[in-house]
Amino acid sequence: MKKDAIGDPLNRVDGRLKVTGRATYSGEYKVPGLTYAVLVPATITSGTIIAVDTKAAQNAPGVLAVITPFNAIKVPGYQPDVAKPIKGLKLFNDNIVYFNGQPIALVVADTFERATYAASLVKATYQKQPFETNFHKNLDKGVTPQNGNYKDYVRGQVNAYKTAPVIVEQEYIQPSEMHNPMELHVTTAFWDGDDKVTLYTKSQGVVGSQKAIATAFNLDPKNVQINSRFVGGAFGSSLRTWPHEVAAVQAAKMVKRPVKLTLTREQMFTLVGYRPYTIQKIGLGATQDGKLIGITHESHSQSAIYEEFTENSVNVSRFLYNSQNANTLYKVVPLNVGVPAPMRGPGEATGSFALESALDELSYMLKLDPIELRLRNYADTDLERNLPWSSKYLKECYRQGAERIGWDKRSSTPGTNRDGEWLVGYGIGCGAFGAYRARTVAKIKLTPDGNINIQSAASDIGPGTATAMVLIAADTLGLPADKITFELGNSAFPPAPTQGGSATVSSVGSAVHDACIALKQKLNTLAGKAPDSNEQIDYAGILQQHSLPMLELTQESKSNDNAQKYSMYSFSSHFAQVYVHPLTGVVKVKKIVAVVDAGKIVNHKTASSQMIGGAVGGIGMAMTEEAIFDDRFGRYVNGNFADYHVPVNADIPQIEAIFIDKADPIINPVGTKGIGEISLIGVAAAIANAVYNATGKRVRELPITPDKLI
Ligand code: MOS
Repeated sequence: MKKDAIGDPLNRVDGRLKVTGRATYSGEYKVPGLTYAVLVPATITSGTIIAVDTKAAQNAPGVLAVITPFNAIKVPGYQPDVAKPIKGLKLFNDNIVYFNGQPIALVVADTFERATYAASLVKATYQKQPFETNFHKNLDKGVTPQNGNYKDYVRGQVNAYKTAPVIVEQEYIQPSEMHNPMELHVTTAFWDGDDKVTLYTKSQGVVGSQKAIATAFNLDPKNVQINSRFVGGAFGSSLRTWPHEVAAVQAAKMVKRPVKLTLTREQMFTLVGYRPYTIQKIGLGATQDGKLIGITHESHSQSAIYEEFTENSVNVSRFLYNSQNANTLYKVVPLNVGVPAPMRGPGEATGSFALESALDELSYMLKLDPIELRLRNYADTDLERNLPWSSKYLKECYRQGAERIGWDKRSSTPGTNRDGEWLVGYGIGCGAFGAYRARTVAKIKLTPDGNINIQSAASDIGPGTATAMVLIAADTLGLPADKITFELGNSAFPPAPTQGGSATVSSVGSAVHDACIALKQKLNTLAGKAPDSNEQIDYAGILQQHSLPMLELTQESKSNDNAQKYSMYSFSSHFAQVYVHPLTGVVKVKKIVAVVDAGKIVNHKTASSQMIGGAVGGIGMAMTEEAIFDDRFGRYVNGNFADYHVPVNADIPQIEAIFIDKADPIINPVGTKGIGEISLIGVAAAIANAVYNATGKRVRELPITPDKLI
C-alpha cells in the first residue's frame, strides 16, 4: 500500500463531516434544558449606566432572567487576557460604558426568539460623558504602548533617509477592517455544581480559554472543560476570551441552566475585535544606484480606552532590507471604541502595505525595476537582531513569481500598457512573518487493530490542522493515513498552544513527530531491534506478540531553543496583475501569484487552499474592506454585510500559490515555517503597486475604490 508522505495532497480528514453537516460547531450542541441569551447593547458611547428598566422584559413570555450591572453575580477574577488591562471591560460587573454597542444587559429566555424580543424591551438610563472616536482628530493623543516590552527602535542614525540623494517620504492609511468569519461567535455554557463548568465556544485556543475562564471564576483549571472541535473561521477574532464568553458562564450560574449566547452579525462588528485603523509614515533614502541609506517607519494605530491593543506594524522595516540605518516608532491612540484584535497577517500586513508601497515609489524615482531594487537591498542576515536566518529563499520567490505573473510584459512607464480599453499593470509586494514554535504535548495510542490515535489540545480554525497532523504521523510511522486519527479542540487533551501566529504545524507537528518517533522506539525495543531502527514495523503484530491490549505514551515537544541563535521567518512575495478602466476607475484584479518560502510544506492541497484564502483576505484589504465610523454618534455606519464589503466570487481572479518547499534545518524536525499570516501579508501592496503601474495614480489610502482613480 502506498505510504502517505509529507508533501502529499491529502484530502481533509474531516472534509466529509463538514460537507455533510455532521461537523458540530459550538452553537449546535444539543444540551438538555438549554436556554438562550441575547445581549443588549449600550446606545451611548461614553458614560455610566444610572438604571436599567427591566420590568417589561422580565414580564415577557419565556424570560428567565434579565442580567444587568445592578443584579449580576460578580465575576471575582475578571481580567481581559490578551491585551493587558488599562481598566478592563468587565461586563455587568460595573456600570461604566466605554463604547457604543458595549453590552449593558443580558436577557435569558427559553427560546432565542423570546430572548431577542425581550432584549428589545430593556431600557437604560445613562449619565452621558463626552467621547472621542475620531482617529485623525486624536492622533496627538497617541501614546507609546505601555504593554509588554515594546520599545521604539533605532539602528545607526535616526532619520538617516533625509540625508540621501533620493528620498521618498509618504503617508499610508489603512482603515479598520472586520474579521467577520461565517460562523458567528457562540458560547454554550453549563455548570455542574458550583465549581465545575463546561463550555462549547468558538476558540482558537482551548487551553487559553480554559485558563481565562478559570481565572475569572476562581476555579481550578481542571474543572473548566472547553470544547471547540470545529471552528467556522476566525482570522484572529477568537485568539482571546471575550467578555461575552464570560457573560455566558455568568448567566448559566445565575439561571442554573445551560445558556447559549450567540452574537448577532451586527454585534460581530463591535464585540470581537478588528484590524485597527492605522496611519503610517515611511521615509526611504537611497543612493542614485538604489542602495538604501535609511528607513524610517512610524505608525499610529487605533486602540480602546479600556484596554490597550498593540501589533507589529513597524517591525518589518527593521529587518527586511539591508539598510545600515533604520528607526521605527509606534503609538496607539486610545478611543471610545471596542478594542481591536489581531486580524490575519496582523500588524505585519499593515506594515508591509506601507513599506512595500514606498519601495515601489522609490523604484520609479530611480527608474529601477522594483525587483531589481529589492535585489540590490537584499538582507543576507538579520540586521535587527544581528543573527543569521535559519533559512531564507526570498530571491527564489522573486524569480518564480516574476515568471508566473509574466513580469516581462510589465511596462516600466505607468499608464502605457493597454488591453483594449483597459489599462494593465503589474505589482509586487513582499512580506515576512516570524516562524514560531511553542511547547506542545501529544498523546499517542496504538490499538490491537494497528490503528493510531493522537490527541492534543490544538485548534483548527479552517486550515486543516488534523489533516496535516495525520500526514506527519503517517510519514513518520510509515503507515497509511487512514490508519491514523488526530483529535483536537478539547481542553482535556494534552496542552497545545493557541492557533495563532502561524505556529500550529511547527508546534503541534513537532509533538506529533516526536510522539511517533517515541512510539517507534518503544516498539523496536519490544521487537528486540535497535531503538532507532528504520525497518518497517508490524505495529499490530508486536502488540499481539507481547499480549499488550494497547500501547500509549505522552510526548512533550519544547519551544524552539535555537531562537537566540537564528532569526526565523517565513518570507513571501506576492505578484498582482490588474486591469483598470480609465473612465470608471473600476479595478479588476486579474491574477495573483503568491510565492512563499515557508519551509517544508506538509500538505500541498490544504496549504494551497490556505494561501488562496489569505490572498482573498488581501484582496479585501486592498479593494473593498473599510469599517466607517460616524463620529457624531460613535457608531459604525456599515456594521453589516450589506454595507461592509468583502470580496465576492466575481472579485476573485485566478490565484496561484507556489511553495519554495525547502525544509528549514533549524526550527523543527519537519522543517516547516508557517503560512497562515504570510498568505495575506504583501497582497495589498502588490495590488496598489499594480494599480500605479497601470494608471500612474498612487493610492496611499485603502481600500482602492474607483473614486480614488478618476
Ligand atoms: Mo492569527 S491573526 O494569529 O489568528
